[in-house]
Amino acid sequence: MTPIDWLALLHPVLIILFVYPVVGATIRLGILARERRLKINPLPPSVGIEHGDHGRWLTGGVVVAVLIALDYSFIKHFLNQATPFAGGAARLGLLLVVSAGTLLAYLSLWFVKKAPLRASFALLTWAGLLGLGSQKEIWRLTDNPLTGEFWGSHYWAGVLLTGLLLFSVAARQEVLRSLRMRRLHVTANVLVAVLLAVVAITGTRDLLEIPPSWQAPALRGCDYTTLQCAPTISSEAFRQALDRAVKEALGKRLAPTALVAPPVGPADDAANQAAALPPAALAPGLVAPA
Ligand code: HEM
Ligand code: HEM
Repeated sequence: MTPIDWLALLHPVLIILFVYPVVGATIRLGILARERRLKINPLPPSVGIEHGDHGRWLTGGVVVAVLIALDYSFIKHFLNQATPFAGGAARLGLLLVVSAGTLLAYLSLWFVKKAPLRASFALLTWAGLLGLGSQKEIWRLTDNPLTGEFWGSHYWAGVLLTGLLLFSVAARQEVLRSLRMRRLHVTANVLVAVLLAVVAITGTRDLLEIPPSWQAPALRGCDYTTLQCAPTISSEAFRQALDRAVKEALGKRLAPTALVAPPVGPADDAANQAAALPPAALAPGLVAPA
């Protein structure tokens, strides 16, 4: 694992270690706040406050984790020599500045009190994430909601759920005061719970599909639509096949004197012997890997 591979793990690790446990606590506190309001359970008013505070931290954790995932994609493409990064270091710098601005917009949402300011900072945070996500380095499967792939896109489920959480944070005061807003809040967050399951499934799927950087060149020969890879042979498999071919040839009583080993190290005995064999003695179709 290279440092860039470890960086790839930061997003899922942050989500698993911080976001999902806080989701559990937030949902439980939300249910308790409802039981308190409906007088089903005599609970202190702090359950509602705790629920709102947990919701704020949960949303913050999701915003940070999404920014890490997006910035990781930019840095990975920038460092990859095989694919040119449009705009070079200047564009990468600009994208990182936009990421910092997005985080700043979310932090401002914590402190502002007036409704128009809360709405503006929530929208600004979401616009920052959508703007960064619209770059061509970000893997989105498709941008067409009329296709099935769109609903299996980790990116789209992730930004939709982030938008709904930002709405809850921005409308915290209103959810507290109005029954209509509370109903809207609960409906929106039932959808959030479904999307949290969708991103857990699609994220794990993506993690399975992304190879460590040292394996990536070997996978360039794979076609992801036909699910076929160009036939390749590893150097180890090549050595074993060569060994077998030499043994077979010797088994057919090929005169050992015909084998003139070139003066190379002893570790390469099988390869040396094969090099001296007539081409017909090698296994059919055996081609050395590049
Ligand atoms: C997983 C996400 C969430 C779920 C499932 C959820 C669920 C709920 C539920 C069931 C209630 C009680 C509604 C009622 O009384 O009928 C509630 C209330 C509330 N929620 Fe959430 N919520 C979530 C996230 C958030 C977030 C992110 C915030 C904002 C910071 C928030 C702020 C509030 C507030 C202020 C109340 C009113 C509390 C009270 O009555 O004292 N919630 N939520
Ligand atoms: C609240 C939950 C989550 C949200 C909002 C979320 C959101 C996102 C977003 C917006 C991206 C950017 C797409 C890109 O860079 O191409 C991303 C990337 C990624 N996420 Fe998540 N994610 C969540 C949970 C998870 C989990 C649980 C896993 C794995 C266990 C995961 C694995 C990944 C991986 C491997 C990538 C990079 C590959 C890709 O582009 O699809 N995510 N995530």
